[in-house]
Amino acid sequence: MSTVERKPKKSGTPKALKPTYQAKNPDTRVYVGDCREVLPRIPEVAAGEVDLIFADPPFNWNRAYDEWKDSMPREDYLQFTRDWLDLCIGALKPSGSIWVNIPDDSAAEIVMHLKGRGLAMVNWCIWHYRFGQNTTGRFINSKVHALYFCKNPEHRQWHADEILEASDRATTYFDPRTHNKKAGTAGKRVPMDVWYGKHWGRIQGNNAERRHYHDNQIPEVYLERVIRACSREGDLVMDPFVGSGTTPVVARELNRRFIGTEFSKQNAESAWERITEIGCVRVKRDEPTQHASAIFQPRPTRSKK
Ligand SMILES: C[S@@+](CC[C@H](N)C(=O)[O-])C[C@H]1O[C@@H](n2cnc3c(N)ncnc32)[C@H](O)[C@@H]1O
Repeated sequence: MSTVERKPKKSGTPKALKPTYQAKNPDTRVYVGDCREVLPRIPEVAAGEVDLIFADPPFNWNRAYDEWKDSMPREDYLQFTRDWLDLCIGALKPSGSIWVNIPDDSAAEIVMHLKGRGLAMVNWCIWHYRFGQNTTGRFINSKVHALYFCKNPEHRQWHADEILEASDRATTYFDPRTHNKKAGTAGKRVPMDVWYGKHWGRIQGNNAERRHYHDNQIPEVYLERVIRACSREGDLVMDPFVGSGTTPVVARELNRRFIGTEFSKQNAESAWERITEIGCVRVKRDEPTQHASAIFQPRPTRSKK
């Protein structure tokens, strides 16, 4: 069993900060600023009261963020990464979980750092998309890593019934045994650790979820899966890199409290408009978002003689 001791609070805890944006029912707060400076000044972070963290940091790929400079020297980027990870670890409850969305070039360093801090890996998931940047000199990137760690594997929150999808056995092979399960789970299973399919593509072009000026938006269904699996209604979800607001918009739709930080004033303003005026496009609005992820056509069923 792996547990992580919470560091004792230092006597000089910085003064609590006022949120830049705040809404009630459920409590939703966005703070504008550098997460490394802002997070220690949020009371729930200082007290270690966060249930679930989702972090989708800048990748240091020289992306044109409106304010953040996305091209640090490598060692500075790794130090930045370790700094925000440590703040997140301190913010989590003993039963809490953290997810990090990160590409190939920094996934290994993050895994090593989290393990080194005593967290336990639960899953190393892959978000697979079909619309990668075209390349001819090497294989085309078509994935990001979704790293799922917890503080205490014996006491983490895990709500499998909330995220079941139709199983291949039911949709493709028509295996009658899959219908013998307990009520509500017949023909269903927990999704596999490679995530793809309807509504799971990159948010580009005329995608209904797309927000202007954001080319790093994550699909709502991704956050829906993470938030439903690892928290309950009323729990506190945190995202240090709010961006276009995908985490808070889904958290709010699912009745979770939320705190988050965003470096760019313009991104935070746009995210707040999405959170308070637009809401989710798919989650709880659309057809069920937990589609089957089967890749083969249904097998023809043989008629009994
Ligand atoms: C990859 S985007 C997040 C996208 C988000 N997951 C979404 O679905 O829209 C990263 C965001 O982090 C912000 N950011 C970069 N460095 C930051 C820092 N030190 N503190 C807070 N936010 C930061 C950037 O301005 C950008 O909006």
